[in-house]
Amino acid sequence: MISGASRGIGQAVARRLSKDGWALSLGMREPAMPHGVDPERTHLFAYDAVAGGEAAWVDEAMTRFDRMDAVVANAGLMIPKSVIEADDEDLDAMLAVNVKAPRRLAKAAFGPLAACGRGRVIILASLSGKRVKSDRSGLYSMTKFAAVALAHGIRQAGFDRGIRATAVCPGFVDTDMARAITDREPAAMTDPDELAGVIAMLIGLSNTASVAEFAVNCQLEEQY
Ligand SMILES: NC(=O)c1ccc[n+]([C@@H]2O[C@H](COP(=O)([O-])OP(=O)(O)OC[C@H]3O[C@@H](n4cnc5c(N)ncnc54)[C@H](OP(=O)(O)O)[C@@H]3O)[C@@H](O)[C@H]2O)c1
Repeated sequence: MISGASRGIGQAVARRLSKDGWALSLGMREPAMPHGVDPERTHLFAYDAVAGGEAAWVDEAMTRFDRMDAVVANAGLMIPKSVIEADDEDLDAMLAVNVKAPRRLAKAAFGPLAACGRGRVIILASLSGKRVKSDRSGLYSMTKFAAVALAHGIRQAGFDRGIRATAVCPGFVDTDMARAITDREPAAMTDPDELAGVIAMLIGLSNTASVAEFAVNCQLEEQY
């Protein structure tokens, strides 16, 4: 299952996993088969992270495929405001998509993921979940720190049942989201297809190679 597969990182992950032979269930606000996925092995579900519906999505995906190996909680929202200029409404909007919806999705998928014996949960967090890089990323960072904590919480809750969770923490990735907040050239940002390769690798690791966090950066920073 991949949320927010309509464009950007989510669509790149869908293309990569489909190429690798996975059957997919894609949650999107406006379902449309992405280019580059095998339509015969791809299920679409109308999913809005604000409205909810994760349990219904899991039910439909299980009816179609009868097993669940991995969830990629990717849908995300970035409102570029500082913690001082933002209102509660801005924080609530980002918490709804970046934190509450991925938690509900992992909760809904938990049983089927455990049943497969090697369930994987990838939370698309961010390097903004590891450090607060700028004034205008402050509010987003609050939600992405929570997303990193969510991945750790899922790891703790699911480890004994074979579930492994990873917080994937990229810096700028060349998508609509990054283009809206930076004037960096595309070539100076991480390629979404390359990040999709990282996520495919993480999903493929065995239960004895648990990766709690995976940081990826396009630029030099002190720690990342
Ligand atoms: N790009 C970066 O530099 C970067 C860096 C670090 C982390 N991330 C994280 O990576 C994830 C993907 O980001 P991206 O760069 O691919 O962003 P993007 O190009 O802006 O795409 C965002 C995706 O999330 C979906 N989405 C947003 N709100 C939704 C909602 N309420 N319900 C369902 N889907 C919703 C969008 O669907 P619609 O097409 O319907 O709008 C779209 O598929 C996000 O969690 C983001 O925070 C991105």
